[in-house]
Amino acid sequence: STTGNRGLIAELIRDVPDFPKPGIVFKDITPLLARPSGLAAAVTELVADSPRDIDLVVGMEARGFIFGAPIALALGAGFVPVRKPGKLPGETVSETFALEYGSETLSVHADAIAPGSRVLIVDDILATGGTIAATAKLLNSLGADLVHVAVLLEIAGLGGRERLAEQGLADFSAVI
Ligand code: PRP
Repeated sequence: STTGNRGLIAELIRDVPDFPKPGIVFKDITPLLARPSGLAAAVTELVADSPRDIDLVVGMEARGFIFGAPIALALGAGFVPVRKPGKLPGETVSETFALEYGSETLSVHADAIAPGSRVLIVDDILATGGTIAATAKLLNSLGADLVHVAVLLEIAGLGGRERLAEQGLADFSAVI
């Protein structure tokens, strides 16, 4: 059941205090990934939360890749990676932003998204929303139609949901 899946997912995400820096509680999804039923539950619920008529799923390095690809397969969509610097060989567009711990630049191939493509953004965790907001800016600059944002876990209290709303990303779901 959906309730059972969500309980299992919550049980299998481990809190690691003071990683990667003092004061940060890291959400470690590796126990979830390692458990076949946990991985299946995560993908099943992310797909259940997503619209059907998607052209492209966009996932962010690295943990967004893990869920983005199986969700794209399930939806009959393609997959586009948003990557950290120096990884994509073609012409790219980039955004730099502040993260909960440090700063980050994300890039996508400039020709990855045909204007008007119906795009679903997938990531494991929403914290401050910086990663998803930067990704949305990249995709908007390429003319994407951002249909939905689906994450596995929303960390409340870091302003992520508000940041997505400011970015015009009203259609958002979190599995837990
Ligand atoms: C984590 C997580 C999200 C992002 C969420 O990625 O996977 O992408 O942070 O934080 P935000 O909402 O504050 O932007 P991280 O940068 O640790 O990279 P990784 O996926 O390569 O581990």
